[in-house]
Amino acid sequence: MRTVPTQLHPMPLIDQPDIRSALDFTTLTVERAMDRLLPKGDDPEARLFEAMRYSALSGGKRLRAFFVMTGAALFGVSTQAAQRVAAAVEFVHAYSLIHDDLPAMDDDDFRRGQPSCHKRFDEATAILAGDALQSLAFEVLAHEDTHGDPSVRIQLISGLAQAIGPHGMVAGQMVDMDASGKTLSIGQITRLQRLKTGALISYACSAGALLGKASDPARHALVAYAHDVGLAFQIADDLLDVEGTHEEIGKTPGKDVVTGKATFVSLLGRGRARDQASLLADQAGRHLDMFGDKAELLRQAARYVVDRRR
Ligand code: IPE
Ligand code: IPE
Ligand code: MG
Ligand code: MG
Ligand code: MG
Repeated sequence: MRTVPTQLHPMPLIDQPDIRSALDFTTLTVERAMDRLLPKGDDPEARLFEAMRYSALSGGKRLRAFFVMTGAALFGVSTQAAQRVAAAVEFVHAYSLIHDDLPAMDDDDFRRGQPSCHKRFDEATAILAGDALQSLAFEVLAHEDTHGDPSVRIQLISGLAQAIGPHGMVAGQMVDMDASGKTLSIGQITRLQRLKTGALISYACSAGALLGKASDPARHALVAYAHDVGLAFQIADDLLDVEGTHEEIGKTPGKDVVTGKATFVSLLGRGRARDQASLLADQAGRHLDMFGDKAELLRQAARYVVDRRR
């Protein structure tokens, strides 16, 4: 697992020299916010708090947090507000991974280089920790510290609910589970991936525009960027499942083939899947022209998403 440097480039996120230092910067600052927002204490339910912290603060690239923070920076949103939304998105992501790893779903014993939540604790605790992380995310968005204008908070809350609910991430997870052992068409796989992974990434990329009350064209440009980046991201994840080592990806490689998952790699093969991801990354960057140099880190992120080894 990558260690987070304690010395960072002493610049705000938007001025970080490259995507790697921007991700390090995001990790350090957003994890501080997550730590403050996560429950702790010695109540009888302390085991729940421990499991939430174990999974939410266990590393991870913090790519979704980066999207929130960078999007927010484009519109001059306060760092506190952006960090709270970034933390909420990472809580939802952590919840999704805990449940995704359960025996009833992907049955994965490792996540982020350590035992997955149900292995470290037990299934009941893992289910509850996932549930509680999801609730905590909405509690954070609903708090007035996230934005002084209640109508913005409602947009943030309903946007997240739509992204992760029955017409978003959870729908994608349902189709993913149903598709095991089946051959899906390219259109069906694209839809599956856009729902299970793309919808939350899309929310992360456009949340800054909501916080900053940006114009519709600006928000639409970020959604278009996210549309391509989200799909490229999941194709890269599917490639890493085939090509990555346990050390690199922090999870058991090769599971998608063993469980007969329907992926771009299973349908197109590695070469064409990689070409498709690369094409999407280039296309993603072109949606950002209206932001000029200010979007340079987002352009780099699109390449990072497909070139990453973790
Ligand atoms: C893994 O997401 C799950 C998918 C949606 C493919 P990430 O690769 O972003 O996981 P972390 O947060 O870096 O561990
Ligand atoms: C997970 O997709 C998507 C969500 C958790 C919503 P995967 O099942 O491909 O993710 P990994 O490979 O376990 O990280
Ligand atoms: Mg899965
Ligand atoms: Mg999985
Ligand atoms: Mg995967």
